[in-house]
Amino acid sequence: MRRAFAGVVVVGLALAGCEQDETKPNYEYAPDMVSSVPYDSFSPNPNTPDGKTLLVPAKGTVPRGFQPLHLAAGPEEAERAGAQLKNPYPASPEVVARGRTAFQRYCSPCHGSEGLGDGTVTARFPVPPSLVAEHARGLPDGRIFHIITHGQGLMPAHGSQVAPEDRWKVVHYLRTLQDPARTARKDTP
Ligand code: HEC
Repeated sequence: MRRAFAGVVVVGLALAGCEQDETKPNYEYAPDMVSSVPYDSFSPNPNTPDGKTLLVPAKGTVPRGFQPLHLAAGPEEAERAGAQLKNPYPASPEVVARGRTAFQRYCSPCHGSEGLGDGTVTARFPVPPSLVAEHARGLPDGRIFHIITHGQGLMPAHGSQVAPEDRWKVVHYLRTLQDPARTARKDTP
């Protein structure tokens, strides 16, 4: 008798678990981790110290492949960059070719494809200085790296678009544009 009653209860519970309304979920028994409730990357999170799901990296850590730059924007920092930073890449043909690609992409609209300051935007925007002129030739590599990274005067910063590696390669390409033999050829029509 008792067994039969227990059986009725079990069957009853099982049937009760099956909702007829298909728009509503049925009851689940011990779902465990079938449907987890993870926090979305940018959602608030009551379990972390700052209430955010994405944690700030520990102080002093450097992401893999990231090259930290200890120099901020500004003329004094640009000066220091010129004195302290060295181009870590040797000027191989591949490096110069990559520098050319990045230069054509990011710099030529203003500075022109040969760096003469005659890019396509100059009809409507202030004409940038020629990068093959005496002044630009005299800028140390690190200073140019700093100008690309943080910008200078009217030139906007390019640190977020041009990877550090490409900035150094652009510097190499710029030196080839500044090569007197090349500019002499360009000056004579
Ligand atoms: C939006 C237009 C624009 C773009 C894009 C641009 N520049 Fe400039 N650049 C300028 C202007 C304007 C100046 C003059 C800045 C000033 O007021 O001192 C300048 C100045 C410079 C100078 C200093 C030249 C000197 O003789 O003092 C260098 C070097 C330079 N740019 C390199 C680059 C490189 C390399 C890129 C590409 C990564 C680039 N620029 C992209 C507009 C631009």
